[in-house]
Amino acid sequence: MRRTIAIAALASAALTLTGCELSPKQSVQYGHRGTGMDQVTLKKVAMAKDDVPAPPYDSPSTEGPRAGAAYQNVQVLGDVSEEQFTYTMAAITAWVAPEQGCNYCHNPENMASDEKYTKVAARKMLQMTRNINSNWTKHVATTGVTCWTCHRGNAIPANYWALPEAGKNGIIGNLHGQNQPLPASAYSSLPNASLALYLTGDPKTDRSIRVVSDTLHPTKANELSVKETEPQYALMNHISTSLGVNCTFCHNAQAFKPWNISTPKRATAWYGLRMVRDINGKYISGLKDVFPAHRKGPMGDPFKVSCATCHQGKNKPMGGYKMAKDYPALWGQPMAQPVSGPAAAPAAPAAPAAPMAAAVTTATH
Ligand code: HEC
Ligand code: HEC
Ligand code: HEC
Ligand code: HEC
Repeated sequence: MRRTIAIAALASAALTLTGCELSPKQSVQYGHRGTGMDQVTLKKVAMAKDDVPAPPYDSPSTEGPRAGAAYQNVQVLGDVSEEQFTYTMAAITAWVAPEQGCNYCHNPENMASDEKYTKVAARKMLQMTRNINSNWTKHVATTGVTCWTCHRGNAIPANYWALPEAGKNGIIGNLHGQNQPLPASAYSSLPNASLALYLTGDPKTDRSIRVVSDTLHPTKANELSVKETEPQYALMNHISTSLGVNCTFCHNAQAFKPWNISTPKRATAWYGLRMVRDINGKYISGLKDVFPAHRKGPMGDPFKVSCATCHQGKNKPMGGYKMAKDYPALWGQPMAQPVSGPAAAPAAPAAPAAPMAAAVTTATH
């Protein structure tokens, strides 16, 4: 009997402790002392370095004949030198199709041909990458992005989403996407369609990401209901898990709405939300007729980008490694870009310019 109790006690201790992570922690404080605005991470996670592939060879000259003149069908990279062009082709092969090689996008008999859909998609991706790097510096700063930031050596990035199938009105009722745990809702029972409600980039359907009402009672101008908070909460959970952070990385839990007590990271995230809409609306959705059926979701739309596509669990993709600086062809001429940058975006949040001066301290335990 006593032995059974001892075994049971040991087993329950083992079960309880499996939930504990025993290795050393690192905590970084983002807000004022006493507000609980800090981030506790396992030290080995905080220190882990992402594998970033080295450039194919030393970055060549930006002088000499332009690729636009040297080749027949160069529509985006025409302004870069011929040597830089070849270097960029070698790099994108390693980032997107390392096993398949050049022929993943090209017919080797005729490099100028656009017969493979992958080449047409890649051209749009080149435009998209240039747009991110030159027009969204309020989000990506001077770090920028490359194809690797999303693709990491795969033809299709690991994290994407598509419009969910419409809920069925069956005998158990329409679930409205609830109780279907998916990565996009942080495996919660919250609605699975939250990204589709906010991040398609279609201004006609994307909802405003605001749920805190300004008035005590609903008015004609303010019809926010409690139901509205569910997909919003799912979106915020998506943001937190994509970046590997808590809500307090951006918000002061005293009040989630005011900008003046939020951290500066929240303003960066605000631009990030608009950038993701721009990516999905202007670039990815435009490839609807280019992608074959197996590259599309159940509603026939291409796979779209979320915060997780670039961030992959880090507050800065690849720990903030400035990889794009080695690839001048991916920055392009800001003047040649479509006028779609944040300048044209709706007014910035109430007071993101003067967010709380957060006292950032790091402690290791
Ligand atoms: C992921 C797709 C992709 C891969 C892989 C790829 N390319 Fe390209 N390639 C493109 C795109 C897109 C263009 C057109 C760029 C533009 O319009 O600015 C292009 C254009 C070219 C051209 C210009 C052809 C012409 O006359 O118009 C050459 C040459 C070329 N690539 C060589 C290569 C080589 C060599 C490799 C392998 C090391 C390679 N490419 C791998 C997508 C790819
Ligand atoms: C912001 C994230 C992001 C960046 C940056 C990005 N891509 Fe993509 N790419 C995607 C997503 C998402 C898809 C999947 C779309 C689909 O299949 O419906 C995709 C698909 C593709 C495909 C189609 C592959 C296939 O097998 O169907 C090619 C080719 C491609 N990207 C090339 C590139 C190149 C080249 C670059 C850099 C110039 C690049 N991408 C940068 C997100 C990105
Ligand atoms: C990386 C930064 C970031 C993280 C982490 C984050 N949020 Fe947010 N949150 C934002 C931004 C930016 C907005 C405003 C979006 C907009 O206006 O388009 C927002 C808006 C909100 C709002 C609506 C405020 C209003 O004006 O109605 C609530 C509530 C909220 N977040 C709750 C949460 C919760 C709960 C978590 C944790 C699960 C969380 N957030 C995590 C950035 C973040
Ligand atoms: C196209 C790739 C890409 C996508 C998609 C993306 N980000 Fe970022 N994000 C970056 C890069 C690159 C940085 C680093 C900028 C720097 O070095 O300061 C960054 C930085 C941030 C930061 C600042 C982190 C810090 O420690 O200062 C926040 C917050 C953030 N992103 C939130 C988001 C949110 C929320 C989303 C989704 C709505 C998102 N990002 C989508 C590329 C991306």
